[in-house]
Amino acid sequence: MNVTGATTEHQRVVSGMRPTGPLHLGHLHGVIKNWIKLQFEYECFFFVADWHALTTHYEEPHVIAENIWDTFIDWLACGINPGSCKLFIQSRVPEHAELHLLLSMFTPLGWLERVPTYKDQQEKLREKDLATYGFLGYPLLQSADVLIYKGGFVPVGEDQISHLELAREVARRFNHLYGKEPGFEEKAHAAATKMGKKNAKIYFECLKQYQENGLVEALERGQAVVSSQGNLSLGDRERLYGYLEGSGKIILPEPHALVTQYSKLTGLDGQKMSKSYGNTIAIRENPEVIEKKIRVMPTDPARVRRMDPGDPEKCPVWYLHKVYSTPEVKDWVVQGCTTAGIGCLDCKKALSDAIIAELKPIQERALEYTNNIRLVKEIVREGCEAARDVAEETLEEVREAMGLATS
Ligand code: TRP
Ligand code: SF4
Repeated sequence: MNVTGATTEHQRVVSGMRPTGPLHLGHLHGVIKNWIKLQFEYECFFFVADWHALTTHYEEPHVIAENIWDTFIDWLACGINPGSCKLFIQSRVPEHAELHLLLSMFTPLGWLERVPTYKDQQEKLREKDLATYGFLGYPLLQSADVLIYKGGFVPVGEDQISHLELAREVARRFNHLYGKEPGFEEKAHAAATKMGKKNAKIYFECLKQYQENGLVEALERGQAVVSSQGNLSLGDRERLYGYLEGSGKIILPEPHALVTQYSKLTGLDGQKMSKSYGNTIAIRENPEVIEKKIRVMPTDPARVRRMDPGDPEKCPVWYLHKVYSTPEVKDWVVQGCTTAGIGCLDCKKALSDAIIAELKPIQERALEYTNNIRLVKEIVREGCEAARDVAEETLEEVREAMGLATS
């Protein structure tokens, strides 16, 4: 993929999760499996968003304290590999907060008021007073979370797309306001010569074609020339990208949402699996409890008696079979359900067996991590340090661009 402002060295993946309760199968299939895949393809930054949790749970901080370490244990047990990604706690990287503050200086209030989740969540969580400064700033803090790492891709559920859009607008505004360093053009030309005569020539040709004729292929070709240069400093690269596009220096590249495919696993009642609906199976749920929860699930209402045929499409049990079962088992369900050849209890047993089997090794690993919490804390301590190093670099550039004293 080659997208404006998100060229190869910016292909970092950033994502966070709020520690507001135990992780469940919706997280496993909707988020974590995707992270596990991404961790081998990109430089990944995954964090527990404890400040974001406080925006809605400021009256119940114990909820956050109780869930932070369990969240990491669940991630690790599911297969997130600390060797391939940085795992950390948002509040332990205070650079996120400084960037949030700086972004707040030029973010119009209307942009935040118009983010749909602002009003939606206030309506949905009526029992909480969310007419707070912190809650209004939620998506701006999220923007800072991503921009501080110059994240290129952000795996999120559909409900978060508007937050990513805000992050993009904020980045654009930032670059527009602060990307025009003195002597930008001269510096860009000097940077181009560092690529060697031949490449500089291609670069300027592409620039001309893109800016005069709007040829996107020329833009992409020019970006490719820049990104293939191993010897350029980050600053020079950003100048060259910015100059190519006709803007100033791109200090904060625009991130892109990666919307997860299974962002809506069905819960026990047929609605989306979510803690707020009380229809979840936790990753660390006891197998007996899983069996029982599935046994009492509603089914196609037409199957009143054992000999009544049913329609799987009207049954939440079937929606979970679709995710959990092999093609053979799925055929067995469809065939057996529509002809009344199997009973719902048989059908449910096959499902709970599959879920329990998937969770068994995860639960075993979770137990090991629980018994070795010092190891978990060490992993996170290292992740926080590594994240801070990257965050501090961005912040230095941001401070300088905004006229603040740098070290
Ligand atoms: N708002 C996200 C959620 O509720 C969590 C989050 C916080 C996040 N900061 C982030 C996700 C940065 C992606 C990137 O799921
Ligand atoms: Fe649902 Fe299975 Fe019963 Fe059919 S047989 S109604 S799919 S539980």
